[in-house]
Amino acid sequence: MPSAVITGATSGLGLAFAAHLARTGHDLTLVARTEHDLESTAAGLGHPGRRVTTLAADLATPAGSRLLTDSLAENVPDLLVNNAGMALAAPFPAGDLGEEETLMQLNIGCVLRTTHTVLPAMMRRGSGRIINVASVAACGPTWLGSTYPASKSWVLAFTESVARSAPVRSSGVSIMALLPGYVRTAFHQRAGLEVGRLPRLMWLNSEQVVTAALRDLARGRLISIPSRRYRACAWGLRHLPRSLTTAFSLDLARGRPIPPAAGTARSVDTG
Ligand SMILES: NC(=O)c1ccc[n+]([C@@H]2O[C@H](COP(=O)([O-])OP(=O)(O)OC[C@H]3O[C@@H](n4cnc5c(N)ncnc54)[C@H](OP(=O)(O)O)[C@@H]3O)[C@@H](O)[C@H]2O)c1
Repeated sequence: MPSAVITGATSGLGLAFAAHLARTGHDLTLVARTEHDLESTAAGLGHPGRRVTTLAADLATPAGSRLLTDSLAENVPDLLVNNAGMALAAPFPAGDLGEEETLMQLNIGCVLRTTHTVLPAMMRRGSGRIINVASVAACGPTWLGSTYPASKSWVLAFTESVARSAPVRSSGVSIMALLPGYVRTAFHQRAGLEVGRLPRLMWLNSEQVVTAALRDLARGRLISIPSRRYRACAWGLRHLPRSLTTAFSLDLARGRPIPPAAGTARSVDTG
């Protein structure tokens, strides 16, 4: 039975990946911080004959990250979905530096470490698939005064760069970046982002995104952008002048006072 490891598997897109992959005959390892949510997610998947394992780990910390990479090194899955991610409502540079570093560790560091762990083994084996969840925001500065699009641009550039390298292309391993637009999940509320005014047309649902992503992965696509309207947005962000696209961007810093001097910012030791 094929195996899949999903980070951020208890909510939103990760939960939809878990449900879809359980239905299509995968043994699963679900990763997130909250043990209770992991247990109820695993119980809710309930497909007889499937093995569902949980791993409680804070992937923004070196210890949590190591728990996951140790587990991946021991059991290299057929599919790794690097999905866990976060955003911050506080604009840069007004927000807390420690929180910004946490975002970088989760959105970037974790993707780097897990890919570094599984890719050589997948290449030696001659099979394996990795989905790195980025965002349409990776295609340009959609949110101004925010490090989130920058972190997702890294995920997109990293995925393309690795996936296009000759040894990976000839190895039989597929790596794909998934670029969702706005998806109705707990994501924005968790971050404290105000998105209530967005038109209904802008919203996708998790199942629709995951179904399109897995179809694109099966077709060998390197980048998956679910829905025609977001493919058009991504094209616009990549090809239209910044002066035009910026007019439609959300500026998190607009109307905020100038932040205090840098010495008052707090940093964390990310090990
Ligand atoms: N929703 C959107 O509109 C949207 C659009 C584009 C891209 N994305 C990307 O899609 C991915 C999934 O987002 P979502 O909307 O499904 O988010 P979500 O509903 O907020 O779910 C986040 C998941 O990640 C886990 N998680 C959060 N921080 C973690 C940490 N430090 N360590 C381990 N697990 C952690 C959460 O569980 P615990 O809290 O228990 O850890 C939860 O399972 C993210 O990478 C996001 O950037 C989302």
